[in-house]
Amino acid sequence: MPYAPEHDEVQNPLRPGLRAESAPEPCAAVIFGASGDLAHRKLVPALYNLAVGAHLPAAFAIVGVSKSEYSHDEFAKDMREAVGKFSRTRPVDPEIWGDFAAGMRYVAGSFDDPDTFARLRAQLEEVDRARATRGNRLYYFATPPSVFPTVLGRLKEAGLIRSPLESGFTRVVIEKPFGRDLASARALNRLVLQTCDERQVFRIDHYLGKETVQNLLVFRFGNAIFEPIWNRRYVDHVQITAGEELGIEGRGRYYEEAGVLRDMIQNHVLQLVSLCAMEPPTAFDSPDQVAAKVVLGQYAPGSIVGADVPGYQQEKDVAPGSRTPTFVALRLNLRSWRWDGVPFYLRSGKRMPKRATEIAVQFRRIPHQLFGEGATQPNVLIIRVQPQEGIALRFSAKVPGERYRPRTVSMDFRYGTTFAVATPEAYERLLLDAMRGDQTLFTRGDEVEAAWKIAGGILKQIESPSFPRPHLYEAGTWGPRAADELLARDGRTWRRL
Ligand code: BG6
Repeated sequence: MPYAPEHDEVQNPLRPGLRAESAPEPCAAVIFGASGDLAHRKLVPALYNLAVGAHLPAAFAIVGVSKSEYSHDEFAKDMREAVGKFSRTRPVDPEIWGDFAAGMRYVAGSFDDPDTFARLRAQLEEVDRARATRGNRLYYFATPPSVFPTVLGRLKEAGLIRSPLESGFTRVVIEKPFGRDLASARALNRLVLQTCDERQVFRIDHYLGKETVQNLLVFRFGNAIFEPIWNRRYVDHVQITAGEELGIEGRGRYYEEAGVLRDMIQNHVLQLVSLCAMEPPTAFDSPDQVAAKVVLGQYAPGSIVGADVPGYQQEKDVAPGSRTPTFVALRLNLRSWRWDGVPFYLRSGKRMPKRATEIAVQFRRIPHQLFGEGATQPNVLIIRVQPQEGIALRFSAKVPGERYRPRTVSMDFRYGTTFAVATPEAYERLLLDAMRGDQTLFTRGDEVEAAWKIAGGILKQIESPSFPRPHLYEAGTWGPRAADELLARDGRTWRRL
């Protein structure tokens, strides 16, 4: 496969020392889609926080590119507002901001116009002179996926992609969803690899930048007691929830193309499945025979923490009568020795009662109910990805008193109280790694394709005209009743979050 690393380059990414901090080289970060939601909400705030932590190279610049007409100053001003609103550290420090903003530039233009790229080229040359960025470029594709091929092609034509053998690095960071299905992901991988070398490609899934997600590896492979029970003999089922209070936040145009399967399941949630289910030490044996049962939902008007919110079909840029799912619940069966017969129940949705992402590993019931039928609950290990990051183990303990009355109690590890340090945002870690050229937390082409094989099979089912329309669910609830029935048919229930 073209993207497999050279044999002598195969390294264990968990090897101690590999992730030792090294200062990134000077570089210019070019953000395509600079007027969009991601740049405002995540990317520029993350870069600013890297500046606050003194992690950015001394010679650094940001060049925004998009259609909106901004001057350099207007762009910097707009970003200042975004950082004021979305930054992890606030208020914005005027001195740090001053240095940071001095390296901001903007190029207005359409992505299919070669002239935009000629002007970008001139702008980057100016930045190299003014900011000493030495020809190093990090291109960030924060655009709708359908635009990636155009931007790549235009960059290549304009001579803005150098081979890894030349001096000055070129790296491209490509946002998810990488393609719309398996065929388009393969085509995109081919195209990317015609233009760049795999070492220059950073396919981003920001969940891999979350501390709690990286910790899954340490938890499973750094502790002796869990691995022997991490299989079908002990585990009854696994539930993974990725719920959000937020709706689509003005991103109707993107969301109508994506829906919850492409937006959350194919990438973030399947990353969680991989890290939870894969074999040690680092190889993910992609289960190629995956069968899934699926329930879809779409939010109707409702209320979130007391405030009325519109339904999906009332959102801007959403087609009346849209069948786009904003919620999915599904059951995956992984056909492997380790997991045969252990269902993985996944659910993800917009406009849930609260934001909560967790993996719950539910162990089997005890065989003999010594303390009375139903007196003890099965053990559950809960990995809270966000918020209230931590890990809890639920087990039965005797309530003090004369009788044997068991109750479920919890051993609970919380990041917040255990490590008294602020956790960086996922995008901070990942942008810094991309600047350093460290691909450990990025997705290789074959992994993206494996994820599309799973999601593509499901999409084929649900996008066929005979598949029922999504069930409506009131905003502020945990999805349609049919999602509960999916588990009830197996004699199980979703955890209450
Ligand atoms: C993004 C999706 O990838 O992840 C958004 O496009 C979603 O729709 C977001 O809101 C969730 O990220 P987080 O870090 O808030 O869980």
